[in-house]
Amino acid sequence: MTRFLRDEAATIALASEVYRALPEDHAGWMILLTGELGAGKSTFARALIKAAGHGGSVPSPTYTLVEPYKLASGNIYHIDLYRISAEDELYYLGFDELDDGLCLVEWPDRAPRLAEAADLLVELRYEGPARHATLVGHSERGHALTLKIN
Ligand SMILES: Nc1ncnc2c1ncn2[C@@H]1O[C@H](COP(=O)(O)OP(=O)(O)OP(=O)(O)O)[C@@H](O)[C@H]1O
Ligand SMILES: [Mg+2]
Repeated sequence: MTRFLRDEAATIALASEVYRALPEDHAGWMILLTGELGAGKSTFARALIKAAGHGGSVPSPTYTLVEPYKLASGNIYHIDLYRISAEDELYYLGFDELDDGLCLVEWPDRAPRLAEAADLLVELRYEGPARHATLVGHSERGHALTLKIN
């Protein structure tokens, strides 16, 4: 599934649609967000977390690596791997304990082993001043989700 995102509002709208296409219990889901610096990965993650009912701010997890959100709709973990130097760091940090929530992962290419468990890839590309999104299902349920979005 691909979509032209003419502006930030279109990126936000797509993230809300993805949230609404998830099952009510989205624990254990993993969505990878890829794209160059400034492509809109955090914009997408922030919009999805807000669509899930979070009313406060959504700080960047660049330094903390993980920002957890305990929401009435379930847990969401916003993860940014930009600064990890070795994949093993993840396991020291307890990344194997995040399976009780939905994981949104920026820079997943930093941790190929983690990314193997993904359900959905959201690839954001620059297209002039705008963006282009490609959604690819990496699991059966992730593929089914892409079919609900058009
Ligand atoms: N469809 C769009 N068209 C044009 N601009 C957009 C679009 N979507 C988001 N933006 C803008 O692009 C910027 C994206 O910043 P954002 O922090 O989300 O990128 P990022 O991919 O997370 O970057 P980083 O790699 O540094 O984490 C923001 O200024 C946002 O307003
Ligand atoms: Mg970001």
